[in-house]
Amino acid sequence: MHLERLLQSQGFGSRKICRLRIEAGDVCVNGTLCRDPQAEFGTAGLAFEIDGETWTYAEHVYLALHKPAGFECTHQPQHHRSVYTLLPPPLVRRGVQSVGRLDADTTGLLLFSDDGRFIHAMASPKRRVAKHYRATLKHAFDNTLPKQLLEGVLLTGESAPLAALSAQQMDAHTLALSVDQGKYHQVKRMVAAAGNRVEALHRAGFGALSLEGGSLPALAPGDCCHLSENHLILLGYRR
Ligand code: URA
Repeated sequence: MHLERLLQSQGFGSRKICRLRIEAGDVCVNGTLCRDPQAEFGTAGLAFEIDGETWTYAEHVYLALHKPAGFECTHQPQHHRSVYTLLPPPLVRRGVQSVGRLDADTTGLLLFSDDGRFIHAMASPKRRVAKHYRATLKHAFDNTLPKQLLEGVLLTGESAPLAALSAQQMDAHTLALSVDQGKYHQVKRMVAAAGNRVEALHRAGFGALSLEGGSLPALAPGDCCHLSENHLILLGYRR
């Protein structure tokens, strides 16, 4: 692929902008300065440096973000900042989108990609990918809560009850809950339907990926990392 086209595909601006950056001497490829926008490179494993940062060519990107509270999962946020401000700008320009959404006040694991097939596979109700949450409850835990959530609660606008995959007390005000659907405000609505109220919500895991279990590098709130092939296998997206 021509270098200017290659940089454009990786989110570094229009073809013209990429050409000017290359001609200005801003780009090294595999460790060597290249000022020729038309220079041809094979893309597999190609490393290039721009603005002092090294990037590896990737046909698609897959990211995990530890979402902090106070960010909206949209490009045009209304009341808070956008989660997209937390991602490297070239990856946003490539068009990465979140896999589903978390509420502005929810923290935890959120995946992104520019691979539409991946987003669809991870978000599709048919795949039933488990999402693992920790909810801080307003009222002290009562023993009927897990039973109600596991048996299913009927939410307004739904034709059938929604049941949790698992629901466990962690302490007097903390519930660990896993669900495999992705309805709007699902956890908060399920807990409300079972007679309590979620005061804070954290997504600890998505499928086999966990912010706490060592399957991902340690991510502080606001940090993101690339998913490896192994992560994609763990998610059932690759073999
Ligand atoms: N369920 C909710 O209620 N909110 C979220 O952000 C995610 C799941």
